[in-house]
Amino acid sequence: MDLSSVIAGVEFPIGLMNASGALCVTQAELEALGESEAGAIVTKSMTPLAREGNPLPRYVAIEGGSINSMGLPNLGYPAYVKLIPELKRFKKPVIASLAGLHPDDFIEGAKALNASGPDLVEVNLSCPNIAGKPQIGYDVDETAQLLSAIRNIFSIPFGVKLPPYFDPIHHQQIAGVLQRIGVAFVTVINSVGNTLVVDPELERVVIKPKGGFGGLGGRIIKPVALANVRAFWKIWGDRIPIIGTGGVENGTDIFEHVLCGASAVQIGTVLVEDGVGVFTRLAREVTECLERKGYPSLMACRGKLQEME
Ligand code: SIN
Repeated sequence: MDLSSVIAGVEFPIGLMNASGALCVTQAELEALGESEAGAIVTKSMTPLAREGNPLPRYVAIEGGSINSMGLPNLGYPAYVKLIPELKRFKKPVIASLAGLHPDDFIEGAKALNASGPDLVEVNLSCPNIAGKPQIGYDVDETAQLLSAIRNIFSIPFGVKLPPYFDPIHHQQIAGVLQRIGVAFVTVINSVGNTLVVDPELERVVIKPKGGFGGLGGRIIKPVALANVRAFWKIWGDRIPIIGTGGVENGTDIFEHVLCGASAVQIGTVLVEDGVGVFTRLAREVTECLERKGYPSLMACRGKLQEME
């Protein structure tokens, strides 16, 4: 089965990869992704300086998903800038995820990444887990300002990772900005930010940072993810490729994301829970699903979701 995809001119042998954040902080984790059947290697969102991240516990698996408040633990972009050329030996696209706590962080990060040569850059506008730093993607003006400042710096195609939006007007507004800027792709969705999981026995929150508030991921958020993929597909069609993220546990979930309009799919919670071997299972399951439905390739079903008359 042809599970390949092309995003911004970059060829993915399989349109399946890790979500930034899932098992992609260290050199060993990134190399394990290189050796796995993942169709790309996506780095952890990088900041200028290495970060330990938020205090533990900061990730907990819950029924139907996970809650996290990692706080951007990463090696710092100087380390990833050195690592990325080495990751090219795995002969699959490398996507650098770029974050920042200040607009200058993104500008300096963009300059450093140009020299390092990832295939694509995913600019993270949606980390919900840094106290006092709102998710940039929820502020249309700030998003426009930041992306205007960095777009002329990048010599590499860049896209953005967005938070979930819950109203069509917000999809329209952010889509207008992204189209004007000319982003090469969008990744939707980051975790559903600032949710709260309660342990009723202990009468306590389950993660330590931010009073227990954290980003919700996993199966439980699939309908939110699918709605966001679909909303952007309805606005853009195939003009701006969409990477669907959220709630993928099996091959049918991948099929659903692509049916809604995704050109590739990222895996978060189930990768953290099951390890990199999950890509082998997912590739087999989505192949079986496509064969059963009579599609010749993964991209043959892209955007084909039917609405009712
Ligand atoms: C984190 O490190 O807190 C998660 C990153 C993200 O959600 O963008």
